[in-house]
Parts: sequence; C-alpha cells; structure tokens
Amino acid sequence: MFQLNDNYLKLPGSYLFSTIGKKVREYQAAHPDQKVISLGIGDVTQPLAPVIIDALHRAVDEMGHRETFHGYAPDLGYEFLRTTIAKHDFQARGADISADEIFISDGAKCDCSNIQEIFSQDNTIAVCDPVYPVYVDSNVMAGRTGTYDPQSGVWSDVIYMPCTMDNDFVPELPKKTPDLIYLCYPNNPTGSTLTKDQLQVWVDYANRVGAVILFDAAYEAYISEENVPHTIYECEGARTCAIEMRSFSKNAGFTGVRLGFTVIPKDIQRDGVALHALWARRHGTKYNGAPYIIQRAGEAVYSPEGKEQLTKQVAYYMNNAAVIKEGLCKAGYRVSGGVNAPYIWMKTPDGMTSWQFFDELLNKANVVGTPGSGFGPSGEGYFRLTAFGTYESTLEAVRRIQRL
Ligand SMILES: Cc1ncc(COP(=O)(O)O)c(C=O)c1O
Repeated sequence: MFQLNDNYLKLPGSYLFSTIGKKVREYQAAHPDQKVISLGIGDVTQPLAPVIIDALHRAVDEMGHRETFHGYAPDLGYEFLRTTIAKHDFQARGADISADEIFISDGAKCDCSNIQEIFSQDNTIAVCDPVYPVYVDSNVMAGRTGTYDPQSGVWSDVIYMPCTMDNDFVPELPKKTPDLIYLCYPNNPTGSTLTKDQLQVWVDYANRVGAVILFDAAYEAYISEENVPHTIYECEGARTCAIEMRSFSKNAGFTGVRLGFTVIPKDIQRDGVALHALWARRHGTKYNGAPYIIQRAGEAVYSPEGKEQLTKQVAYYMNNAAVIKEGLCKAGYRVSGGVNAPYIWMKTPDGMTSWQFFDELLNKANVVGTPGSGFGPSGEGYFRLTAFGTYESTLEAVRRIQRL
C-alpha cells in the first residue's frame, strides 16, 4: 500500500489567496454594479515589449527549418544567454560571476523552492517575517520545519527574523545559528531593501558561521537608489556563501512566458564538494531546460532596445507605486516600500487587523489588497498593495481609499 509524504499534510493550506478570491467573488455577486479594483496580486499587466515579441517570432521561425531547429536545450541553458547574463547582470557591476556559474530555468519560484533539495534535511532555515511563502512551504514539504502552531502561525524548527516598522524592516542577525538563510531584496512583501553595507553584514555573518544565503533578487530591476546592491555578489566574500535566484517575470513581464536563473559560484564548498556540482547534477536529472524560443526572448531583454523598452515598463509600474505611496501618505496612512520595489506596505489604521482592513477596503472602497498576516505573524497589522495595475485603475483605487 502506498504511503503519502506526510509533510504535505502539515501544510496549513493556501488560505490567503483562496480566501481573498472567495471574499471578492461573494462581494461582487452581492454588488454586481460595483467595479472592484485589485491591487492585490503580484502579476504584471503590461504586454510584452516589442523587442521581445520580435525575438520570439524570429525564434519560432527558426524552429520551422531543419538547419535552425533546436531540440533539448543544454543542461545549464544556452551559452548565448548565460554569457549575456554574466556580462550585463554581474561583470558590468563588478561582480565576479562567469557564464558557467549560471543555470537557466523557467523561473525563480521553482528555483527557490527546489534549491533546498541539495542540502541535508537536518539543516535549519532562517526566514524574514513576513516572507514570500514559497521558502517556508517548500521546506515544509521536505520535512525540515517541525510542527505548526495554528495560533501563532509559527513552525517550531524555523528561525523567524521579524521585519517591522520597529527595525525599519531590516532583519537582525538571528540568535540561534541557521544553516540556510533566505533573503529577498528588494523585498516581497514589504517593498523594503538593504543597502550594500547592510547586505555585507549578512555575507560576513554567513561566512563566519558557515551558512549559505539563498538570495532572491526577483525584483532587482526596480532598484532606484544608488547604495542598493543589484546582486549579492557586489558584496565581498559572497562567492563563498551565496546563491542568487533571478527572474524575468517582473523586469520583462515574463510571468506567463517563464524564464529565470540561479547563480551558484564554484567557491561554495562543503568538505571539498561544490554546491555547483550538486545543482548541476540535479538540473541534469530533473529538468530539461527552458525552451530555445524563450531563451532567445530572454537574450533580447539585454539588447540596447530591450533595455530601453523595459526601463520604460518598469518606470510605468514605479510611477504607480509613487501614486499609491503619495496618495496614501496624504490620506494619513503610514506607508513604506515603493521606492526600490513595486510593493507598498502600509500599517493598518486604528489598530485594525490585516483582515479587518481588507474587509473595510473591499466593502467601502471596492479595492482589493493583500492582508499582511498572510505572509507571516509579523505581517499582522500591515497590508500590501501592488504597483502592477494599470495607471488608470491605480489612480482610481487611491482616490477611493482617500475618500474612506
Ligand atoms: C520574491 C519572489 N520570488 C520569486 C517569484 C516568482 O518568480 P517567477 O515568476 O520567476 O517564478 C515571486 C513572484 O511573485 C516573488 O515575489
């Protein structure tokens, strides 16, 4: 008789987005004339840039001819894309990363949930709180998190690093020593980020205690301030302790196209074994690569026209972020984020819980956001709005919130 992976049964269920969806559907059914605006989900709304569409068309045509047809992609991804990434995302920023340390994938979600496979089950993970839920849930599935307390929303074997207004959303070094440290900067959900000096503290710490930092830089394209590092490899010593995950979803609108990559420097070793070799083995065994067509589209992101068109797209979303942030500040809310990230993180007013504020916003302003408590215990009392809507709907949503 087959047995289940019991770890899956420990997962508390995806209440957050299903509960949001249910509440919105019920409200809409009861009020069919009201137009609900969603600033809740982290999905892009702008179409793919022309330079990407052109690259896709060209690559599709290539697939129709024997001479230019492509079958399985190389294990690590096509050389043309890995070389381009190494040059533009790393070497141009003074970060010593070579093309053969880059693994192309179909996105950061898979990579940041799968990467834990190459580590022992006995490793202890540390996460920021609030946190992108994938880091915790993937470790629950692997049996690394202990037991769940539904009252507090806390797993017994996970080290939580609270990020709240009290510490300006900058996590403190944990008291108990972790083996794996998940960091996401610019941050989802708080929209905060770390300066280079602040990130250097984490790199030094990881090297000192022998931990690995799993650095999710999915929102790198949204960085606007000078002293914010675009890659963890701008920090000294990161080559011996940090793995970085990147995505084409938010910088180039690939949420439905799917492309990402993971960087594992060959210098991260344990007892003479390089993590790079383990991930290469895992990639070769379990993954057959992002499609050629998509990798060509990824290459176009780095062309001069690609950079120009995508800078405009990111600016469009960041203008929305500014509209939300300024509008809510004027209305008296305490608001952060939105400067180096497409997320606005606000304190709920009058001591309301995250869900009470969700209901208030839905019922009185017909605006949907995401309750902060859905991202972890320290998210209680906060609320996330995203800048990924259209300009018009963002403006209208802010007007409605201001009228509350
Ligand atoms: C922090 C973070 N990492 C990764 C992802 C997923 O990226 P991808 O679309 O490349 O899987 C998201 C998506 O919202 C995210 O917020």
